[in-house]
Amino acid sequence: MQAVKIAENIYWVGAIDWSMRSFHGYATSRGSTYNAYLILDDKITLIDTVKEPFKEELLARISSVIDPSSIDVIVSSHVEPDHSGSLPFMMEHCPKATIYTSFPQGLKGLTARYGMLRYEPVKAGDILKIGKHTLQFVPTPMLHWPDSMVTYCPEAKILFSNDAFGQHYATSQRFDDEVDRGVLFYEAKKYYANILMLYGMQAKKAMKALAPLDIQMIATGHGIIWRKNVQEILAAYQKWSSFELEDKAVVVFDSMWGTTESMAKTITEAFRDKGMPVSYYDIKKNEMSDIVADILTSKYLAVGSPTINNQMMPTIAGFLCYLKGLAPKNHKAFAFGSYGWGGQSIQQVDQELRIAGCEIAIPMIRVANKMTEKDEDAIRAAVQSL
Ligand code: FEO
Repeated sequence: MQAVKIAENIYWVGAIDWSMRSFHGYATSRGSTYNAYLILDDKITLIDTVKEPFKEELLARISSVIDPSSIDVIVSSHVEPDHSGSLPFMMEHCPKATIYTSFPQGLKGLTARYGMLRYEPVKAGDILKIGKHTLQFVPTPMLHWPDSMVTYCPEAKILFSNDAFGQHYATSQRFDDEVDRGVLFYEAKKYYANILMLYGMQAKKAMKALAPLDIQMIATGHGIIWRKNVQEILAAYQKWSSFELEDKAVVVFDSMWGTTESMAKTITEAFRDKGMPVSYYDIKKNEMSDIVADILTSKYLAVGSPTINNQMMPTIAGFLCYLKGLAPKNHKAFAFGSYGWGGQSIQQVDQELRIAGCEIAIPMIRVANKMTEKDEDAIRAAVQSL
């Protein structure tokens, strides 16, 4: 296990989680990495640790450069255990290290999880001189936990961004110019949608705080390090955190006997006939985390469910619960679905879309039993009217 040099006297010493397929429910088809960084200076500094099961990998990579017991400073950017989980282990191996964490939330969270280790709380504007390098601490509260902070090193022009700008993307490569650009930006977008969409306002504030910094490299907490596309990923975060949408549509549905599926197909065709790019997601065959990545930038959203036991399908209820949690903004939506009798599901979907913060763009579309030509024409006309 070797460290990877990312700049003069600065190394990536993280861990690669090739096989992770679920990050607390977020489907991670490409695995992830837990990134930690080592800065060699008068005070040897480790920025973040890794998820606890990967602690030996972290130690081995550090040991490929220095004796871990020589570490003086550990910066803990974020209490969530994928970054802090190996702190107690590292403190056993770094007897003289002090943990720098945000005040008060980082201090509170780390103490609650790991007890009294050697902590030094830091606030906005605090600076730590570690020799030739300086570390400037920038709190980014609720991006995405109250304790979250990033660290900027002006001499190296590196932003150690922890969760911000990350991707769940395990590869043998470490930099953005070494991987497929389309895959990288898709994973960055999916990460923002699933982890940060709810905190768009805080992301906007953080972007403002970072604006004066001369950032040549973004050393993330997950996935690839940005060095070629720094301005592009900053611009993408500006767009996403401004809730800017594109003229695109997303259709999500479940179906029992094919009628709601037929409706979904007709709606999809109708959007296409309007000249609008549209995505079609059978909820049984797709991951919610991929669907919300698409929703992040799509103006229109159609959600359909047949009625079962007077309810919407549990799959669609779960999807709408997830969507409500992410609090999307500025979307125009509508509900659709089929039924044999009753038909309560369509009203329920409509209601949940309103609660999720969507504007209801057209009245809900209901079909009894089986689609007729008349139903099809009505659906096409309704979508055309959008
Ligand atoms: Fe990557 Fe919020 O932890």
